[in-house]
Amino acid sequence: MNGASDSTPRFNPKGIPAAPKDPLYSLVSAYEADESDQKVDLGVGAYRDENAQPWILPVVRKATEIINQDTKQNHEYIPIAGLPEFNSAAQSLILGVDSIAIKEKRVCSFQTISGTGAVHLGALLMAKFTPRPSPFVFISSPSWPIHDQVFDTVGLPVRHYPYFRKDTKTFDFDGMMDVLKSAPKGSIIVLHACAHNPTGVDPTDDEWKEIAKVMQANELFPFFDCAYQGFATGYLSQDSFAVRYFVQQGFQVAIAQSFAKNLGLYGQRVGAFHFVAGPGADAQSITDNIASQLSILQRSEISSPPIFGAKIASIVLNDPQLFSEWEKDLLTMSGRIKKMRKCLKEELDRLHTPGTWDHIVNQIGMFSFTGLTPSQVLELREKWHVYMAETGRISVAGLNDRNVAYFARAVDDVVRRVL
Ligand SMILES: Cc1ncc(COP(=O)(O)O)c(C=O)c1O
Repeated sequence: MNGASDSTPRFNPKGIPAAPKDPLYSLVSAYEADESDQKVDLGVGAYRDENAQPWILPVVRKATEIINQDTKQNHEYIPIAGLPEFNSAAQSLILGVDSIAIKEKRVCSFQTISGTGAVHLGALLMAKFTPRPSPFVFISSPSWPIHDQVFDTVGLPVRHYPYFRKDTKTFDFDGMMDVLKSAPKGSIIVLHACAHNPTGVDPTDDEWKEIAKVMQANELFPFFDCAYQGFATGYLSQDSFAVRYFVQQGFQVAIAQSFAKNLGLYGQRVGAFHFVAGPGADAQSITDNIASQLSILQRSEISSPPIFGAKIASIVLNDPQLFSEWEKDLLTMSGRIKKMRKCLKEELDRLHTPGTWDHIVNQIGMFSFTGLTPSQVLELREKWHVYMAETGRISVAGLNDRNVAYFARAVDDVVRRVL
């Protein structure tokens, strides 16, 4: 071929600007480099035990032993959609064992690279199969920052709905409802199934019902992100109330599910994407067609998902004895987080720290949106060696009996001195 003219589209590496660093990963590096023995890590969204150490769930240890003792284990590829016994158990976990949608075979499930991979696979499906101009994807403000990034990366236009009232530090139900009422029909609404990241505030069951009513009336598409099932209340079925309610109401639903937090399998990258078709004569064929398209997307991106973490999850989810041990592990984690919320609030009350701190105990899940300003967060880091997100979010799991009083003193100091 002749040389391309100047107007020929081409990949131009020289024109690519540097992208900003991921703020949370930068925070981890800064924490690791800090040599103070008083340093406190409240940035990373991962559970820590009372010694500030990662916790391998006892049930995960048992499942790993079972795998290691099985002489028939190998490292063969697994199917494109992932381990079938993992997918079916993950489905039942989120939708409920007697879900009508499962009985009617209108659910398809794909094992993914944890929750992020599940959000991405769903986003990719929607980006490929929606007409241009694409529908808007509405994401809560604030949200897990990667939501914007994932939908933006696949070319879907992102909009936001209000979620958090700064004055009361509570859920902004009216603000969210106003946007849902005026969103264009067909918009995709990303909903945190429970333990909203970063605010720690969830709609009540009644509020979820109102949200569903408006979404149904306005023909909006729910895309649930469920990264913390079992972490909010400590109970798996209560934490999936919203998802199950929407399915019962006959919605078609997309669900991204992560086992990073509730099984402590962070780096193993275990998750699932589920698509639930609405009830109707064509539900099964819609589900089958979507599954066939997901196969192509999955095959082009990762070929087939990794085996080890999914086997661990599958063993725990499918064995009644191990499952009930897991439920206890979940209560251990959520219980310790609740205890730390209470201790922090008590310490702040004891110090008469200016402001109200009820939200620390009223918020739920792994995070608390403290209301601390970016300057206070910076001062906490520079003077007190406390590392937390610039938004004022703390991972409550990073607190323990040894550092909670220290953290409260640090907060008290910066709140009094820094705006
Ligand atoms: C709301 C939300 N969604 C998804 C994820 C995905 O996590 P992972 O990819 O580790 O499962 C997270 C993790 O922090 C999250 O907070």
